[in-house]
Amino acid sequence: MRRLALPLLIAVLLAPAAGAAEPPAGLVEEARGLARTYVTELKGALLAAIEDDGAPHAIGVCGAEAPGNATAISNESGWAVGRTALRVRNPRNAPSPEERAVLMRFLERVAAGEDPTKIEYAAVVDTGGRKYLHYMKAIPTGRICLTCHGSQVDPQTMNAIRARYPADAATGFALGEPRGAFTFVRPLD
Ligand code: HEC
Repeated sequence: MRRLALPLLIAVLLAPAAGAAEPPAGLVEEARGLARTYVTELKGALLAAIEDDGAPHAIGVCGAEAPGNATAISNESGWAVGRTALRVRNPRNAPSPEERAVLMRFLERVAAGEDPTKIEYAAVVDTGGRKYLHYMKAIPTGRICLTCHGSQVDPQTMNAIRARYPADAATGFALGEPRGAFTFVRPLD
């Protein structure tokens, strides 16, 4: 019963409400482009910081600079940008119930054989009488991400992470597995 109920619940949560608007294709394409820029910049910044200072000193890059990047993108583009995951390092990145359902669906899609680098979701969401476009893009775990999110994080790096994030739950990811997702939200009217 439980095994049937969960997928059903997710299907209901993700089903567009009757008469819900289609996400505007141009805006979805814009969010897709921003997600691409974001991940390229993040990977570049992480590589440079790890090479220069070593991983324990680079944890701030995925910490402070990534949300900083997100703020810059938000200001320039009118999108509110964030990151979330089912297992988070920073509790502030924990998913909303809607995001959690989408993230679980992403895992099902990976299990069904979809390419994790292409998995995305877009919906028009009604919140407090206003319509918003909500776009999410899965972030696959790349090789460099394993340094701080893999199953064999070096003890010095792990100590630095634990010191700043005592509730860390964001290790044990495998290469290619979705680490989480970017979230993009903007009002439509
Ligand atoms: C040098 C260590 C380090 C590396 C390498 C690293 N991260 Fe992180 N990651 C962190 C830290 C620290 C946080 C907590 C950030 C915060 O405070 O918001 C984090 C948070 C995240 C989050 C937000 C959700 C959460 O758990 O709080 C995502 C998504 C994420 N990382 C993905 C990646 C991806 C994808 C890569 C590879 C491109 C990567 N990280 C590489 C240290 C790292």
